[in-house]
Amino acid sequence: MARVFSGVKPTGELHLGNLLGAVRHWVAQQDQDDTIFCVVDLHAMTIPYEAPEMADLTWKTAAMLIAAGLDPNRCTLFVQSHVPQHTELTWTLNCVATFGELNRMTQFKEKSGGQESVSVGLFDYPVLMAADILAYDTDKVPVGDDQRQHLELTRDVAIRFNHRFGDTFVVPEATVPPVGARIMDLQDPTSKMSKSSASPGTVALLDDEKVITKRIRSAVTDSETEVRHAPEKPGVSNLLEILAATTGRGIKDLEGEFASGGYGPLKDTAAEAVVEFLRPLRERYAELDKDREQVTKQLALGAQKAEAMATKVMERVRKATGLLPRG
Ligand code: TYM
Repeated sequence: MARVFSGVKPTGELHLGNLLGAVRHWVAQQDQDDTIFCVVDLHAMTIPYEAPEMADLTWKTAAMLIAAGLDPNRCTLFVQSHVPQHTELTWTLNCVATFGELNRMTQFKEKSGGQESVSVGLFDYPVLMAADILAYDTDKVPVGDDQRQHLELTRDVAIRFNHRFGDTFVVPEATVPPVGARIMDLQDPTSKMSKSSASPGTVALLDDEKVITKRIRSAVTDSETEVRHAPEKPGVSNLLEILAATTGRGIKDLEGEFASGGYGPLKDTAAEAVVEFLRPLRERYAELDKDREQVTKQLALGAQKAEAMATKVMERVRKATGLLPRG
C-alpha cells in the first residue's frame, strides 16, 4: 500500500479547482492507499490574515473535506499546527534547502511581487511543505498542477539530505490528474481559479445553486462558436475540463456532442453538472455544521495518529543529523 499525503490551506472557502484538481482524488485514494490529509493552517499564516477568523476557517475547511467524502475512519485527517513535528522538521530542512532554489519558486515570485514587506515565512513556505510530506514517509502526493514545482523542491531536498546524512527520507512523487489539474477563473480563463480572489469567476463549494449557475453561464469564452479544447481557447477548454471532470466523460466525446450549436448548450450543461456534483457535498456540510464538536473530536484523533507517525520519522532525523539525545 502506498503512503499518500496531501494538504489544503484554510485561506477561504474551498472552490471547484481544489475539488476537481485534488480533493476528489484524495477521496478515491482512501480505499486503495494509506492516506493522510492535512489542513495546513501554518501555511495560511504566510500571508496577511485575520487572526479571529483562522480557527473557524480551519474547522470549515476540515468539515468541507469530510463533506466531500473524506472519512476520518479510513484516512488520517488533521490540522497541521496540532502536530509540532512539522515545524521541527522545517528547521532541519531549512539547513539543507538553499536560498537560491527557494528564490526560484514561481509562487513566491507571484505572491511577493509588488509587496512592500514580505515575510520570511512566505519565502520558507516550500520548506514547510517539504516537511509536511517528508514527515510521513510519503510515496505519492496528489496535487493540482500549480504544486508541481514545490514537489520538485521536496524531492531535491530529500535526495540532498539522504546523500549528506544517509538514507532517511522516502523520496515522494507528485500525482497530477490528467483532467481538471488546472481549473481556470471563469471570468479570466488565463488565471487559475483561486480562493483568495474575490472574483465572480470562482465557484466556491458552498455557493448557492443559483449563483453557481449564473457564474458558469456567464463564463468568458471567445467570439467564435466552435467547441474545441485548445490553448487558444482557454475559456471553452476550461468549461470542457469542468464538464469532463464532473461527469467522468472524455473531452473528445464532449467536443463531438457540442460541436454544433455554439457555447450556450455547453455552458448550460456544465452549470447543471456542477450543481448536481456539489449538491450532496453541500447537504453533508449542513449536517456537520449542526454538530461541530464531532468534527473537532475527529481532528483530535487524526492529530494523535499523525503525531505518532511523524515522531518516528523525527527520531530518525535527529539521529541522522547527529543531535545529542535528551536521555
Ligand atoms: P491549496 O490550498 O492552494 O490547494 C489545495 C489543492 O488544490 C489544488 N488546486 C487546484 N487544482 C486545480 N485547479 C485549480 N484552480 C486549483 N487551485 C488549487 C492545489 O494544487 C492543491 O493540490 N501548498 C499547497 C498546500 C500544501 C500541501 C502540502 C499540498 C501544504 N503542504 C503538502 C501537498 C502536500 C497549497 O497551497 O494548496
